[in-house]
Amino acid sequence: MEKVAIVTGTSSGIGFETTLALAKEGYFTYATMRDTTKSDEIKEIAKKENLKINILELDVDDENSVKTAIAHILDQKQRIDVLINNAGWGLWGCVEDVSVDEFKEQFETNFFSIIRLIQEVAPTMRKQGSGAIVNVSSVVGRIGFPASPAYISSKFALEGLSESLRFEFAPFGVDVIIIEPGVIKTNFMKNMKMAKKSESDTVYKDITTKVVSGVKMMSEMGTPPKEVANTIVKAIKDKNPLPRYVVGNDASMFLEARKSKTDIEFENYLKKELYGE
Ligand SMILES: NC(=O)c1ccc[n+]([C@@H]2O[C@H](COP(=O)([O-])OP(=O)(O)OC[C@H]3O[C@@H](n4cnc5c(N)ncnc54)[C@H](OP(=O)(O)O)[C@@H]3O)[C@@H](O)[C@H]2O)c1
Repeated sequence: MEKVAIVTGTSSGIGFETTLALAKEGYFTYATMRDTTKSDEIKEIAKKENLKINILELDVDDENSVKTAIAHILDQKQRIDVLINNAGWGLWGCVEDVSVDEFKEQFETNFFSIIRLIQEVAPTMRKQGSGAIVNVSSVVGRIGFPASPAYISSKFALEGLSESLRFEFAPFGVDVIIIEPGVIKTNFMKNMKMAKKSESDTVYKDITTKVVSGVKMMSEMGTPPKEVANTIVKAIKDKNPLPRYVVGNDASMFLEARKSKTDIEFENYLKKELYGE
């Protein structure tokens, strides 16, 4: 039986590479993106390498778009084996500088959209008695620091959601897997937005600038997105997938430090690592 995978946010980066990796593993892969004019490169590779990749429009923020895309896939294939919730973006700005509407916009893509997608595909996976849902979180799904609280809390929320789901879906044979990349070399940094108030002369200007430049420096040495894609493929092939897979030496280093230090020691360590204080 041909296995079917869906990936969100495949116009670049991790989603792009994961689509190729899944298709190379033999999955019929739906490469979904909100702007299908960005699909030329992936289409060209699929053609050259004879990969079963189907481009499909899907804006994860739009309920109709999600419903239409999943209905289309079920109409064509009658099954869904893997859902990779990858689409996401980041927002800079300290809590006082980020409006509630801006927080909501961040959560819409990075958190609520994932609930939307899971609710659309879960009935099919439960009926099949099999399936895997992979949620692309981040090392910042377990570590907080200043100047990006909207993004960080959206990933913390995703971790909580995923942990709960593992219990709920296990009796139906559906796996839930969290992927925690460190800094990955993609368009992510370039696509990060700045909260409106952060662009004005706020009391948080200094700390925001320091963190942004610290993270940007780290991103120069980021891990290639192919490593995340390979980890995702390995995770879904594991007989009993673990709750979490960490990708990148930076992520492993931060999480090891988190484990071995007290909360206060870890805060001091992060200040030094991120902005040399
Ligand atoms: N890069 C990192 O350092 C890093 C680290 C940890 C976790 N992550 C996570 O990895 C995931 C992928 O990011 P990336 O690094 O590959 O960055 P990226 O190259 O910027 O890719 C993000 C993808 O998400 C898509 N997207 C954004 N909003 C969307 C929406 N409403 N509907 C559909 N697609 C949407 C983008 O599409 P458009 O081209 O249309 O904007 C793009 O295809 C994100 O969830 C991110 O939080 C990244």
